[in-house]
Amino acid sequence: MSATAVVGLQWGDEAKGKIVDLLTDQHEIVVRYLGGNNAGHTVKFDGKTFKLSLLPAGVLRPGVTSVIATGVVINPEALLNEIAGVESQGVSIGEDLLISDRAHVIFPYHMAEEAIYEKQSGSSAIGTTMRGIGFCYREKAGRSHAIRVGELIRPDVLRSKLPEIIEFKNRLLTALDPEHTPFKADEVIEKYLHLGEKLKPHITDTTAYLHRQLKAGRRLLFEGAQGSLLDLDHGTFPFVTSSNSSGAGIHSGSGVPERHISRMIGIVKAYTTRVGGGPCPTELLDEVGQHIRDEGNEYGTVTGRPRRCGWLDAVATRYGANVSGVDCLAVMLLDVLSKLPELKICEAYEINGQRVEDFPSQIDDLAAAKPIYRTLKGWQTDICGVRKMADLPAEALEYVKVVSDLVGVPVQIVSVGPDRAQTILE
Ligand code: GDP
Ligand code: IMO
Ligand code: MG
Repeated sequence: MSATAVVGLQWGDEAKGKIVDLLTDQHEIVVRYLGGNNAGHTVKFDGKTFKLSLLPAGVLRPGVTSVIATGVVINPEALLNEIAGVESQGVSIGEDLLISDRAHVIFPYHMAEEAIYEKQSGSSAIGTTMRGIGFCYREKAGRSHAIRVGELIRPDVLRSKLPEIIEFKNRLLTALDPEHTPFKADEVIEKYLHLGEKLKPHITDTTAYLHRQLKAGRRLLFEGAQGSLLDLDHGTFPFVTSSNSSGAGIHSGSGVPERHISRMIGIVKAYTTRVGGGPCPTELLDEVGQHIRDEGNEYGTVTGRPRRCGWLDAVATRYGANVSGVDCLAVMLLDVLSKLPELKICEAYEINGQRVEDFPSQIDDLAAAKPIYRTLKGWQTDICGVRKMADLPAEALEYVKVVSDLVGVPVQIVSVGPDRAQTILE
C-alpha cells in the first residue's frame, strides 16, 4: 500500500491544495480524479502564489508526475491557458503531465446549456461555477453525445461525431432561448482538433500507467477536488456538484482501487464555508460571519464570489468523514479564528423539536435544522508563527481536541497560515 489521499470533508475550499502541495515531496505521482475547472486550489510557498484549477499540485514540485485521470471533465482551452499561466510563473510542465484519454471533454454548448438552466431555474438555481461541469457529466451519463479526450486526437472520429451533436444542441438551445447564437460545427471541430493537437503529447491511458507505477512501488497522492458534502450521491443533493467528490470517487475516477491507499487525510476548515446555493445550518449572516470572511479572505478562487461563512458544523463534517472513510484530519485556517473572544461548534441539530446527530438525507430537513452549539473560549493571540502542537495556546488546543472528538477522527495536521511553512505536523 503506497498511496495517500487528500479529501475535503465540507463544501469545498478546505485548503486541500495546500496539503497536497506539502505532501508532494513524499510522493512521486499526484492524481486528480474528479471535477474540472470548477476547482480552485491555492498553493503558497517562497513568496509565490499559485492558483490551480485542473492541474494537480504536483506540477509545482520538480520530478513529480501529475496525472489528470479518467473521472475529470476537461475544458482543453482552460487547461492550456492554465499551463501557460503557471509556465509564466516559472514552472516547467514538460512531460510530467499525463491526461487520461478516457476523460470527458467540455464543449461551449455545455456552458451555454448551463447558463440557460441556471438563469431559468429561478429560486431553485444551484449556483454553479458556470464551467459546463454538470452538463458534461450529464452527457457522459447520457452517452450518446459525449466526446472523450482520446477522440480529440482522432480527427476522423471528431469530424464524424460533432456535426450531429452540434446540430442537436443548436435545436435544443434555440428552443430554450430564442436569442441563442447557433454554434458552427466546422469552427468547433477545427478549434478542438487544434487544442487536441496541443495536448497530444500528454494524452495517454492513465489507468494502465498508474497500475504500472503501483507495481513498481511508486508512491501516489490523490488530490481531491470539491468536498464530501458536494458529492453527487452523498452530498446535499441537489446542491452538489455532478461527480463523487467524497472519497467514494477515488476508485471510479482514477481506476485505482482503494486497497492501495494507506492514508486517507480528511481536510477540515476550522469553520464552515459554502459557495453557491443550498442549506448551510451554521451560516452567520452577521458581523461575525463578515469577520471570518475578511480574516480568511473567503472569496471564491474560481468565480470570485463571496463565500458564505459560519461556525464549524461537526454534524456535517462527521458525516463527510464517515462517507469518505478518513483516518486522520488536517484542521486548516485555525489562525482565522484568532481574534474572536468566543467560538462555537455545532454538535447536533434541532429539527422539528428533536435533537438530531445524524446528517439529514433530505434537503428540507437540513434547511429546517437549527444548530445546537458548544461554546468555547477563544485564544485571542496570533498563532501564525506556531510550528509545534504543544506551542498552541491552551484554548486553541482545546478547540482542535473538540473538533477531533466530535468528528471522531484524530487530528494530525493543523494549519496556521496559507504558506507551506505555516503548518503543524503531529
Ligand atoms: P482548496 O480548494 O481546498 O484547495 O482551497 P482554496 O485554495 O480554494 O481555499 C483555501 C484558501 O485558504 C486559500 O486562499 C489558501 O491560500 C488559504 N489557506 C490555506 N491554509 C490556510 C491557513 O491555515 N490559514 C489561512 N489564513 N489561510 C489558509
Ligand atoms: P474546490 O476543489 C467550493 C460548488 C459550486 C456550486 C456547486 C455546483 O476548490 O474545493 P458545479 O460548477 O461544480 O456544477 O457547481 O458546487 N463547487 C465548489 N465549491 N469549492 C469547489 O472546488 C467547488 N466546485 C464546485 O459553487 O455550489
Ligand atoms: Mg477551492
